[in-house]
Amino acid sequence: MFAPRLLLPFFALLMVSMGRAQPPAQPPAQSPVQTPVQLPAPPNPAQFTMKAIRMYKFGAASELKYEGVPRPVPGDDDILIRVHAAGVNPVDDKIRAGALGPMVKPPYIPGFDASGVVEKVGKNITKFKPGDAVFTYINLQRGGAYAEYLIAKEGEVALKPAKLSFTEAAAVPLAALTAWQALIDTAKLEAGQTVLIHGGSGGVGSFAVQIAKARGAKVIATASAENQQTLVDLGADVAIDYRAQKFEDIARDVDVVLDPIGGDTQERSWSVLKKGGILVSIVQPPEQAKASKAEAKGVVILVRPNADELAQIGGLIDDGKIRPVVSKVLPLARAAEAHELIATRHTRGKIVLEVIAESPAAP
Ligand SMILES: NC(=O)c1ccc[n+]([C@@H]2O[C@H](COP(=O)([O-])OP(=O)(O)OC[C@H]3O[C@@H](n4cnc5c(N)ncnc54)[C@H](OP(=O)(O)O)[C@@H]3O)[C@@H](O)[C@H]2O)c1
Repeated sequence: MFAPRLLLPFFALLMVSMGRAQPPAQPPAQSPVQTPVQLPAPPNPAQFTMKAIRMYKFGAASELKYEGVPRPVPGDDDILIRVHAAGVNPVDDKIRAGALGPMVKPPYIPGFDASGVVEKVGKNITKFKPGDAVFTYINLQRGGAYAEYLIAKEGEVALKPAKLSFTEAAAVPLAALTAWQALIDTAKLEAGQTVLIHGGSGGVGSFAVQIAKARGAKVIATASAENQQTLVDLGADVAIDYRAQKFEDIARDVDVVLDPIGGDTQERSWSVLKKGGILVSIVQPPEQAKASKAEAKGVVILVRPNADELAQIGGLIDDGKIRPVVSKVLPLARAAEAHELIATRHTRGKIVLEVIAESPAAP
């Protein structure tokens, strides 16, 4: 048997190594009278640390390190989520490469989309409680979804659609909110209108096609040859192979163009818009002179967290009107591989990182 006096340094070292305690002051010199010593309960390491992907500097995907980090502690306005899965978006890759430089400061845990279960809530949180299954798109500057635990704000979280697994739910928030804010909030898309959705098989485009259909619009969508069937499956009325056909030869009198591509695609899109139509870009501010010449409007938007809209999207999912397309699932530790894939800008639907395995192991 070890004497309690001998165990004390062991626990103190363990707590210090987990960042939980300062080294105790030196014990007083041995007194001839032994007083009983109260031992601290052995700490549970999972309570204080977590696995996460962290980057220390901007650069290639290899800068993403899978490691143990301190678990976030929720404040009064915070929701602590035990993450089950995190969505991967092109912006994750752009931020890691340094394209949004001053917006974030390494060391930094990437990721803005997550699904999981509420672990703990701050005292000002009224809409969620521990045990709720949720999904969330969190503010770009905070990041943090590539981790076992994540802090979200009440205005960023909605209940997970019951129809979806956690893995599927993590594919939804950022991309679906972008499509919603472009088509519904900005373009005010109405039933009977015609919308041209570029990149209709991508993360944003795959939700945009379904949201527009759910709204009662006629949908023309573009993708490469290998994604034509995906466009049809998502509900597009007209599917265009952008490499084999000129979309401007097919699309006419369009009310709304959604542009997730920019460049030449945006440039050529003015000719398909009807007078009074609108081009909403999510990648490049439209030139106002060109918008005026086309007697149309041109705007660029940046997606914002919005819990009410996320809940409405969740409702459409549970009603069977929208579904995420998940083309690849990888474990969290393989985030660098996910970034290399998303950087191609030719992935179908969404890539998801599983924090708690739900799918068979990816090859
Ligand atoms: N402003 C914002 O708030 C916001 C929000 C979300 C995303 N974004 C940005 O929007 C862009 C798209 O995001 P995402 O998540 O949809 O990307 P993604 O998942 O990588 O999808 C890109 C899609 O574009 C298609 N594509 C590539 N070149 C094309 C072309 N010339 N014409 C038509 N389709 C083409 C690809 O289909 P094929 O493989 O069939 O070619 C692919 O499915 C990214 O740059 C992202 O950073 C901005």
